[in-house]
Amino acid sequence: MDIDKIQKQLKWIPPGMLTMLERYLKRTPRFRAMLEKEYDEMLGGMETSLKPYRKDFTSFSRIPERGRARANLLQEMEAIKSHEEARWRDGFVSGAVYHGDQTHIDFLNQVYAINSQANALHTDVWPSIAKFEAEVVAMTADMLGAAQTTDQICGVVSSGGTESILLAMKTYRDQARDMKGINHPNLVAPTTAHPAFDKAGSYFGIQVIRVPVDEKFRAVPSTMQRALNRNTIAMLGTAGTYPHGVVDPIPELSEIARQHKIGFHTDGCLGGFILPWAEKLNYKVTPFDFRLPGVTSISADTHKYGYAAKGTSVVLYRGLELRRYQYFAATDWPGGLYLSPSFAGSRSGALVAVSWAAMLSMGAEGYLSAAKKILESTQQLRAGVEAIPGLHLLGDSLFIVAFAADSLNIYNVMDFMTARGWSLNPLQRPPGVHLSVTLRHAEAGVSQRFLADLRAAVEHVRANPQEQGESAPLYGTASNLPLRGVVAEMLKRYIDLLYRV
Ligand SMILES: Cc1ncc(COP(=O)(O)O)c(C=O)c1O
Repeated sequence: MDIDKIQKQLKWIPPGMLTMLERYLKRTPRFRAMLEKEYDEMLGGMETSLKPYRKDFTSFSRIPERGRARANLLQEMEAIKSHEEARWRDGFVSGAVYHGDQTHIDFLNQVYAINSQANALHTDVWPSIAKFEAEVVAMTADMLGAAQTTDQICGVVSSGGTESILLAMKTYRDQARDMKGINHPNLVAPTTAHPAFDKAGSYFGIQVIRVPVDEKFRAVPSTMQRALNRNTIAMLGTAGTYPHGVVDPIPELSEIARQHKIGFHTDGCLGGFILPWAEKLNYKVTPFDFRLPGVTSISADTHKYGYAAKGTSVVLYRGLELRRYQYFAATDWPGGLYLSPSFAGSRSGALVAVSWAAMLSMGAEGYLSAAKKILESTQQLRAGVEAIPGLHLLGDSLFIVAFAADSLNIYNVMDFMTARGWSLNPLQRPPGVHLSVTLRHAEAGVSQRFLADLRAAVEHVRANPQEQGESAPLYGTASNLPLRGVVAEMLKRYIDLLYRV
């Protein structure tokens, strides 16, 4: 029996029963053996491409007896970096590095070096970091409408978008347990919301109710409202969804949340640091921030369009009381009174300082000028994609170019682009591909090169429909296999692979 046959046979079984069946099947030796074979086949070919340095560099699985010369280590890392740098620097990569100018990078590196020993946990030793953090939070809050409300907007700096989201969801869970006695909490989220919300659900025992979006990939207020029940602790919308870069109808959604007296989180991880500037540049932006009275928390990533180094984000709350549900305090530990605002104990002070310095060195002028370049490049790219026969855009975004193919296999198109050096992101349900536009793509010639390669890709796939790349079979199976646990297990095996020395 192979996985394709199983897939066909299971298609008609309802999802709830499938989960039970899957649990049963997983305990069956024959089925497990078949799965192991399937995982090996799917992942076996990937190891070589995932471990490009095995051939030319020594691998270490124990600490060497004698320390290696620093110069030698630096030289080795420079050599490795030279293999990887050109791709993102020359604009071949979707998202990932949002600024990337060498002078900006050099400046951030200098700031990191000055603060490299600082631990944000020890505010007595490094009150400087507390100052930087408070100011990063205040500046982000101000950018996101704090001055237009009488409520106090406050927050903390976290390690990234996912942590900001996890923190906010834990906050709502604890608040709802405390204030409303809700012990089986749920969260209502559009299908397009980031998986960090599912991660929060799985870590904190919150059921995540996923609600379908409309044909423009935006949440539908009436359907979201219907999904609420008495155990709902919060609703959310995204300002700049990862797949298609669209903004959910947050004015309507947050108003529903306000009327139901539940929290409303705007996930502005991606769009939070670019949409406010887009609005100032007179682009049409659906309101999503604290100017809306129903919005009670926002996540916005300094390490994306905030142009800081990787490893920071800001989570903001309406009111000090709400933020306190996020904090942790231990009063009886022999090690002393312990307090910490977020998940980590020790936190890099240097990364907080880098965010602070990135924001101050950019200034409103810098953010506006960066946004202008990115938004104009996106418009150019979107118009170019639309003009390619056989492709159509997905969603209406200011900074993401998401597209699908009418009758071609879009994953084959993506594989052709990969062969030409591009690193694009695959989408599913529906199948698609996106390019998340950064300052790298605003450099001269990049959008022209992208469009020329994309045209060539479409022509090639049209002329050679039988040619099969790596992504099409993978996404074909991964999107359609009714046994979702099997797909998840395969992804976990992939992580195992990454940890193989
Ligand atoms: C809309 C959105 N939310 C959350 C995240 C998670 O951010 P991070 O990868 O920094 O954890 C992302 C990442 O791309 C995102 O696009």
